[in-house]
Amino acid sequence: MVEEKKVIFSGIQPSGSLTLGNYLGAVKNWVALQHECTCYYCVVDLHAITVRQDATELRKRTLDVMSVLIAAGIDPEQSVLYMQSHVPQHTELAWILDCYTYLGELSRMTQFKDKSQKAGENINSGLFTYPVLMAADILLYQADMVPVGVDQKQHLELTRDIAIRFNNLYGDVFTVPDPYIGKAGAKIMSLQEPEKKMSKSDENENSYIALLDGPDVIRRKVKRAVTDSDGEIRFAEDKPGVSNLLSIYSSICGISVEEGEKEFSGQGYGVLKERVAEAVVDVLEPLQKKYHEIRKDKAYLTEVMQKNSQKAAYVAQKTLAKVQRKVGLAPTKL
Ligand code: TRP
Repeated sequence: MVEEKKVIFSGIQPSGSLTLGNYLGAVKNWVALQHECTCYYCVVDLHAITVRQDATELRKRTLDVMSVLIAAGIDPEQSVLYMQSHVPQHTELAWILDCYTYLGELSRMTQFKDKSQKAGENINSGLFTYPVLMAADILLYQADMVPVGVDQKQHLELTRDIAIRFNNLYGDVFTVPDPYIGKAGAKIMSLQEPEKKMSKSDENENSYIALLDGPDVIRRKVKRAVTDSDGEIRFAEDKPGVSNLLSIYSSICGISVEEGEKEFSGQGYGVLKERVAEAVVDVLEPLQKKYHEIRKDKAYLTEVMQKNSQKAAYVAQKTLAKVQRKVGLAPTKL
């Protein structure tokens, strides 16, 4: 018997430049999964406009992210890599699901609470219904598993609740997705405040390594990374800075943290930082070279986006049509 491949869906926001944390924590996993699963990877430009964006900048960044993902190893022939706004079924399903999601549920989302505090005057409805669009993203493709970071777990829980509610009313319409915690993934922390996640939206540029940082910038940022004063290279809770450098190193080299510790036993932080910097430069240099080739090839990018949004729309439309029928919308053809 042939076992059906599992369906994976994940989305990435085109905000800021992607970091080494995104690469080691998420993208590397996405790359590994594409061989065993049917994968949908979506650049979520419609989620990005829940906060005010500069139009020219946003347009540029969505293409940057698409190109970085390809350069990092997402194969657009194998995985369905596409732009969210190119597949209108996402917003259509989101509207219907809005009608099956309660205000109370959305008010409890911690990301909404955080973001609305920061949003100043612009606490728009899109910021509030953001998780419903995310649910639509996932449910359209009947995804079995969704690779997400901890910050998105609550949104995935809500997606499950919406799917279960809908299925209880109308029969088995949606696959109820599970979170996927990857093997290859590592949680990479800020180089300056290693208690915090490495983030592309951090104000302090020294706290993250952008995937497009040049070798000298990388070396400088790693050199400045916060460590501690005990001088021993160990992975330990009370040594967040050193532990983070060990995570970066072992994740890049594909070894365990324990193996990394052994490799550096008896050495000083200077050596650790040098080797971490070289390891990072070694993975990012070829990635950047590829990125620059892809990014300027408009014909290629257009083809990737068109082909893949068609593939996505085909599957999405099947789910959407079923949902429309279940809730009682009249068909276009009687
Ligand atoms: N909200 C996610 C984030 O900010 C991005 C996202 C949108 C997503 N739709 C998704 C992630 C669907 C997983 C599945 O990281």
